[in-house]
Amino acid sequence: MNPRSILQTEKITKSFGSFVCLSGVTFTINPGDFFVIIVGENGSGKTSLLNIICGLTPPDRGKLLFKGRNTKGKNFSWFTNQGMVRLFQEPRAFEQSSVLDCLLFSHYGEKMPGTLSCLIRPLSYRQQENKAVEKAMSFLRTIGWENKTAALAGELSFGQRKLLALGTALLSNGDFLVLDEPVAGLDQTQIQLAVSLVQQWINARKQQRAALVVTHELEAFQGVASHALRLQNGIIARDEDA
Ligand SMILES: Nc1ncnc2c1ncn2[C@@H]1O[C@H](COP(=O)(O)OP(=O)(O)OP(=O)(O)O)[C@@H](O)[C@H]1O
Ligand SMILES: [Mg+2]
Repeated sequence: MNPRSILQTEKITKSFGSFVCLSGVTFTINPGDFFVIIVGENGSGKTSLLNIICGLTPPDRGKLLFKGRNTKGKNFSWFTNQGMVRLFQEPRAFEQSSVLDCLLFSHYGEKMPGTLSCLIRPLSYRQQENKAVEKAMSFLRTIGWENKTAALAGELSFGQRKLLALGTALLSNGDFLVLDEPVAGLDQTQIQLAVSLVQQWINARKQQRAALVVTHELEAFQGVASHALRLQNGIIARDEDA
């Protein structure tokens, strides 16, 4: 056991009926890692693995440590409070909210200011709000979306909604990103942008941050992944530094 590791899985096993989805899956993710798990076929267990990692589905057997703590019995909120940020395969956004508001919600997370603060707007509230807006605008400038601040999330294309969802994860206070097929459905330009945003996010605080990606698009992550594992028939078949 590495006391500094972010995530350690030990012999994780999961079946659905007679289908063995995961069998003895063992790996360790350390700070600074851009950890990519490649799974070839559809329906081979990518989402199931991530659901186990973030407390949505219990494994049948095996052990999971997050930041050195045994996670048995812990739920999704616990993982989130400990700094895990899960992005789902289908981008989720507040469809009737503007792009800027979606990014601001993620900044506040569960620490939204109370009703009284919103009404009175004390100096501390305004300072926090200005900081959040500046952070969000800086992100939007980075991806060339300065003119999209007021666009409704529900009006964006699939690829744009995926980028927005990624933005909400990057601007949150989390330090471990768990990304389910983050580049599926994106065009080449969006793929390069998404991958480099995650890489920059890790590099900005290599001592604390890491990302785990499951994907069947190895090419997109070649050259940036610190580790590339292949999951085949529920088993980690190969482990090599990318
Ligand atoms: N709660 C469940 N009950 C029964 N079967 C399930 C459950 N969750 C997943 N499965 C099955 O387990 C298999 C793996 O599903 P999973 O969603 O993890 O695959 P995936 O690799 O993410 O697929 P995709 O490429 O379509 O995203 C599928 O055959 C699925 O039908
Ligand atoms: Mg899936």
